[in-house]
Amino acid sequence: MSEIQKKRMLSGIKPSGCLTLGSYVGAIRNWKDRADEYDCYYFMADLHTITVRQNPADLRRRSLEQLAQYIACGIDPEKNVLFLQSHVHQHAELGWVLNCYAMFGELSRMTQFKDKSAKNADNINGGLFTYPALMAADILLYQADLIPVGEDQRQHVELTRDIARRFNGVYGEVFKIPEPFIPKVGARVMSLANPDAKMSKSEDGDPGRITLMDKPEDIMRIFKRAVTDCETEVRFDWDNKRGISNLMSIYSAATGRTYEQIEAEFAGRGYGDFKKAVGEATVELLRPIREEATRLLADKAYLQKVCAEGAEKASYVAEKTLRKVYKKVGFVAR
Ligand code: TYM
Repeated sequence: MSEIQKKRMLSGIKPSGCLTLGSYVGAIRNWKDRADEYDCYYFMADLHTITVRQNPADLRRRSLEQLAQYIACGIDPEKNVLFLQSHVHQHAELGWVLNCYAMFGELSRMTQFKDKSAKNADNINGGLFTYPALMAADILLYQADLIPVGEDQRQHVELTRDIARRFNGVYGEVFKIPEPFIPKVGARVMSLANPDAKMSKSEDGDPGRITLMDKPEDIMRIFKRAVTDCETEVRFDWDNKRGISNLMSIYSAATGRTYEQIEAEFAGRGYGDFKKAVGEATVELLRPIREEATRLLADKAYLQKVCAEGAEKASYVAEKTLRKVYKKVGFVAR
C-alpha cells in the first residue's frame, strides 16, 4: 500500500510514571503491528504531564524510559514515528487555537478534570481544565483517522471530534474527524489492590499496580495479594465480581483466551490457582519487554536519535495543518 493511501493512527501516553500493565493492555498492545496498514505516530505526552506538578529530573528520565519501553513493546522506530510532544512546537500552538473553540461547559464535564481536581485540590490550574484542547490538537494536527486508547480516554476523543466539527463548520474541511479505537478486552485494567479504581501509573506506592519494569517475583507477589471476593467461582461479572473479572480480562489479554475458556479452565479450582496462573501469564507477557527496555536504556544516544528523527518527521506533518489553520482563522503569513 502506498504512503498516500494509508490511514493514520496516532496515540500518546503521559510520562507521569512508569508504564503499567494498564497502559500496555489498554493502549500500546493495540499500536503494534499496524505499520503496514497505517501511518503510525506515537508520542510521549510530556506537555500534558505538567498539569500535575512533576519533579523535573524524574520527568526527563521517565520520558526517555518511556520511549525505550515503546520500542521494547514492539513499536519499531523504523516503521513508526516516535517523538516527544514538547519537541514539536505545533502542539502547543494549535492547542491555543483550539482552546478558543472548546466551550467552558464541555470542558467542565470532563471526568478526568473532575477526578484530578478532586485529587489535586491545591493545584486546580488552567492547564488541567484546558487539557482536552491540547489533546485535540495532538490528534487533529496529524489528520489522524484512528486513535487507539483505553476507555478512560474515550470522552476526550469524543470532545476532539466535537471541536473538529465545530471548527470545520466555520472554516470548511480543515480537520479529519478521528475515530477512537478502544479494545474489547483490557480497555479498563483496574488496580489489583482496589478493583474499583483504574490501575494508574502516577499513583506511586499503589500496591495494586504492575509496571512493565517490575521483576517476576514482585509481579507474582502483587497477584497473590489481589483483592477478589468471598466466593470461589472464576466467573466474569464486572458489576458484582470486579476483582475476578479484572483478573480474567488481564489473563485473556495475556493468553488470548476468551472468558468462556477461562471459566472452563478454572471450574472447580480455587482463586489461589487462578491468581497464580494470571501472575505467571503476566510475567511471561512482560519479560521480553523488560529485558529489551533495559538493554535499550543503556544506549541513550540511540534513544536521543530516535526522538530527534521522530520530531522532524512529526513537525513536517504538523506544520502543514498549523499553516492551514492560521490562514483560515486570519493570521498574516510570516
Ligand atoms: P494516559 O497517559 O493516562 O494513559 C495512556 C493510555 O493508556 C490507557 N490506559 C489504560 N487502559 C486500560 N486500563 C488502564 N488502567 C489504563 N491506564 C491507562 C489510556 O486510556 C491511554 O490510552 N490524555 C492521554 C494522553 C494523550 C493522548 C493524546 C492519547 C495526550 N494526547 C492524543 C491519544 C491521543 C492520557 O492521559 O493517557
